[in-house]
Amino acid sequence: MSDSADSLQASWSGWKAQVEEALAKYLTTDGGLGGECPPRLREAMSYSLLAGGKRLRPVLVLMACESCGGNSEAALPAACAIEMIHTYSLIHDDLPAMDDDDFRRGTRTNHKVFGEALAILAGDALLTLAFEVTARDVRPSAVAAACCADLAFAAGACGMVGGQVADLEAEAISESPPGLSWSNRASALLPKEQVDLIEGEAEEQVVQKPDSTKTSSVGGTSTSEASLLSHLQSIHRRKTGRLIRSALTMGGRIAQTDVATLGTLDHYGTCIGLAFQIADDVLDVTGSQDKLGKGVGKDAGLGKLTYPGLIGLERSQQLARDLIDEACLAIAPWGERGRRLQAMARFVLERDH
Ligand code: IPE
Ligand code: IPE
Ligand code: MG
Ligand code: MG
Ligand code: MG
Repeated sequence: MSDSADSLQASWSGWKAQVEEALAKYLTTDGGLGGECPPRLREAMSYSLLAGGKRLRPVLVLMACESCGGNSEAALPAACAIEMIHTYSLIHDDLPAMDDDDFRRGTRTNHKVFGEALAILAGDALLTLAFEVTARDVRPSAVAAACCADLAFAAGACGMVGGQVADLEAEAISESPPGLSWSNRASALLPKEQVDLIEGEAEEQVVQKPDSTKTSSVGGTSTSEASLLSHLQSIHRRKTGRLIRSALTMGGRIAQTDVATLGTLDHYGTCIGLAFQIADDVLDVTGSQDKLGKGVGKDAGLGKLTYPGLIGLERSQQLARDLIDEACLAIAPWGERGRRLQAMARFVLERDH
């Protein structure tokens, strides 16, 4: 392991322990959830929130704050809030109506243990608690308001929830007969406005993005494949990328950093956020249930539109590599204080869990 990877691991485990202690406290009667919370609901919330996981998003909040000269302890409430939102998204993602999964974080999924109704409600309660914690415990109040706005945008209809809807709708695209052209396949399955939107997105990518996130960097891309790829990128950016990006911007805001630095965090976060979901798609094909703590090999069976399914493993990995290079380049002018963020970007690419 390189020096920077070693130093990342050391700070990661320290921060993870701090986050887990604070999360547990937020679920207690006097530390956050009041005594009127039904015991079974508290149990269902704790079951998933305290089940482990990498704690990537909260660690990114703390790391971004510290890299901008802030005190990571001041970022702990926002770090806990983003993990609550992420955990809620996992509980709902695993429901029978969505991906219908049985294992998560090395244990049975929330609905398998508590039933669907309580799993839905535990997710709702975690989402709501996240905003209570951010509004109440992030200081000063102007920064708290900005963090609430970051989280709401990242998690809402134009962020994670919208991305999850688009992910489900895209199952219909991949299930359509492969002989049809993209336009015919899409037109047969989706409302016209959506097809227009997808084609518009593809056009925008080609015209506006002279960087590695543009679809042509993948090489050998046909127009219909480019349209699908561009749509898939838009799904992944919304369902996963924006929440990860908000971890970075919240950390910067809490450190009260300047606008240019926030812009760099935003760029870095956008790149690693998208790369993170590409890696997740790849790990569904190449990873092991033991290491990931969740089922593997499920995406193809569900007819998910994924990077490996669309462009193969090798090109997916190349695309993720390009995004990680771009993230490292964005942070390079920070020199020493950006080293851990660079190591984190490489972790996103090389991870097996
Ligand atoms: C899994 O997220 C779901 C995605 C958004 C891809 P993580 O891989 O961060 O899951 P945990 O938090 O470590 O369990
Ligand atoms: C889910 O993506 C992203 C979320 C918003 C939770 P996936 O459905 O691929 O995540 P996993 O593979 O179940 O963790
Ligand atoms: Mg899903
Ligand atoms: Mg899933
Ligand atoms: Mg997945």
